[in-house]
Amino acid sequence: MKNRKVFLAFTLSLMLSAGTVLTSCQKEAAEQTADTEHDAAVTTEAVPEEEDADDYIPPVYVECANEEIHDGKLILVNREYGYDDSFNANLVNIYANKSDNYTVDGSTMELDRDMLNAINTMLDDFAAKTGITNVIANSGYRSFEEQKQMYDDDLEATGLTESELVAPPGHSEHHTGLAMDFAVASGDGYPALKNEGEYKWIYDNAHNYGMFLRYTSQNRHITGYMAESWHFRYVGPVHASLIWKMGVAYEEYIGFLKDFEFDNALEYRHSDTEFYRIYYVPADLDSDKTEIPIPYEAFGTGADKWEYDISGNNADGFIVTVKIPELSPDYDDSYLYLFNSNPELADYQSPDEEEYDDSSEYADDTFDSTDSSAETEETEAESSSEGNIPDSEGEAGW
Ligand code: DAL
Ligand code: ZN
Repeated sequence: MKNRKVFLAFTLSLMLSAGTVLTSCQKEAAEQTADTEHDAAVTTEAVPEEEDADDYIPPVYVECANEEIHDGKLILVNREYGYDDSFNANLVNIYANKSDNYTVDGSTMELDRDMLNAINTMLDDFAAKTGITNVIANSGYRSFEEQKQMYDDDLEATGLTESELVAPPGHSEHHTGLAMDFAVASGDGYPALKNEGEYKWIYDNAHNYGMFLRYTSQNRHITGYMAESWHFRYVGPVHASLIWKMGVAYEEYIGFLKDFEFDNALEYRHSDTEFYRIYYVPADLDSDKTEIPIPYEAFGTGADKWEYDISGNNADGFIVTVKIPELSPDYDDSYLYLFNSNPELADYQSPDEEEYDDSSEYADDTFDSTDSSAETEETEAESSSEGNIPDSEGEAGW
């Protein structure tokens, strides 16, 4: 087994030194290139036993264009880092692809395919557990123009010069297709989803499906936005569960990961059987490309090949997530408590209601439901624009 790995590294090294580099940042393409090479190679004899003496086997380098720091599930989009809209290619129509256990506001809204699958599964499980099917997918992907309209409306309604609730156009997570605002169809309107009653299950379990609550009263000083009990961000279960356990703002999380590079990677026990290695690779500023080191085991064959994913962080580099078969003997998870805001200890999941019930900018918005399964109605007197549902108290912001 070890011989095969050494041989693979040797083969890949030859491949790279011969100029056959893995030229794509995309995982599939890179794997394909390596597999093809390896498939041919494994038919030859393994390297001699003495090669095992050298424990260190160099990584394989996957080349990514520096502009790809703006692509991937982990990109940080906030007031500082805007969204590069040349990368949102994974959008699908929600109405056509959703499960039956919730409602979508309108038939044209789009979302990242992976986030939609996660919502489908989560709300199916929620319905199975509670019988509740009145959650509404209220606002997913937004264009620059839609965000600008919302932003301008909010400034007009509040008289502020900078919104505390709506991101400036170009700086909203909704541009990525990786964010969803949830509401609830209640007897007396469409209030924002809140962490109360049976809905608490969603807040406690969203991370298992890859989502986390992005804006809380605890992180308002970091995000610059008021708490939003309705806005969930998708990053996949590994990172969402880490963020949830650590109780950090996403800005803090992206900063935290920068302390871990290839030779000093973070290890994470995601479950009793799933372990990960996570590390940051700064963009190579001397070039327009960055060589991303990936453990050679990711290019093996068969069931023991390590899975990996590369995402940009939208700021200055890449984040690599590798599934590993076992943790280091000295694995230590005390980093989970570094920020002293673990949700078991703090009120991370419970936004301060006073902070989000005081906005009136969307009192005129509509619930434009064309979904035949919708339990909600289109007859709200004050309804008028797509993407938002008026709060029963008339005042929830998005
Ligand atoms: N409400 C969040 C900040 C947005 O507009 O993206
Ligand atoms: Zn939102």
